[in-house]
Amino acid sequence: MVRELSGHEINALHYELLVKDIISAAEKLPAFPDVAWKIVSLVKSMAPVKEIEALIAYDQVIAAKILRMANSVYYGRQYGVRTVRDAILLLGDKRLIQVAIAACATIYYGPGNSKDERELWEHSVNTALLTEIIARRTSHDQLLTLYTAALLHDIGNTILNLYAKIYLHSSLREMRGESDTVRAQRRALGIDHQELGGIISRNWKFPPDLVSAIEHHHNPEKAGKYEEITSLIHVADALAISFSEQNDRQGGKPFDPESDPVFKKFNITRKMVEDFRSELKTGMSEVAKALSSM
Ligand SMILES: [Fe+2]
Ligand SMILES: [Fe+2]
Repeated sequence: MVRELSGHEINALHYELLVKDIISAAEKLPAFPDVAWKIVSLVKSMAPVKEIEALIAYDQVIAAKILRMANSVYYGRQYGVRTVRDAILLLGDKRLIQVAIAACATIYYGPGNSKDERELWEHSVNTALLTEIIARRTSHDQLLTLYTAALLHDIGNTILNLYAKIYLHSSLREMRGESDTVRAQRRALGIDHQELGGIISRNWKFPPDLVSAIEHHHNPEKAGKYEEITSLIHVADALAISFSEQNDRQGGKPFDPESDPVFKKFNITRKMVEDFRSELKTGMSEVAKALSSM
């Protein structure tokens, strides 16, 4: 006689198939363009502008985005930025690297699509700018790692969102109310966006520090020798979430750095959190707006 599967076994099987399906969707994402890495290596070797220009001009999509970004950040100029060369000179090394990574990352966020994707992209941009504010003086290599990790730390959510819509008839934002989003995602879909981010970034052959920052940003203590950079992404992510919640609910409670051990480790005080917030709102607001609309 054929044994019937128990409800528990059917459930387990269902989860196993669902997780397999989600992972295979993640693995099908197109490879991450390496133009940003090439730009950093040219900038580091102090290559002439025309070499950087030739590299960027080779990729029409990236070139168009860089021009658009230069025009929106320097909108006050009398004449628009018309050539890639002018954009490179105007943006400077740091912004150029940031814009190039952002231009590559937007491929996966489907800008202009759903509200969820737009919100996720805006959150990623704010997280990237906050890493810059918190880390201050960083080398080009660090900047590349920080920006890339920040812009892609929630990449797993782009895939999970799709599955949440199909299987749960809801979106991830509805899960956001839960205090532990990672656990809520695992319970509902069998896998969370951190683990998926690890799979995706490993598939893209990202260096191990970058994979770790994406894979452990909610639990930097699990990042081993990459704990420092992962903690930085964790801090920027937590601040970006709390600032946007504060904006949504005017007069909402400000973030308490005492409540998070990672903030304590970096000696981030309430006053510093307020400084980061006002710097993002004032000094970085034009850049944030321009990057968010890429
Ligand atoms: Fe996250
Ligand atoms: Fe996040």
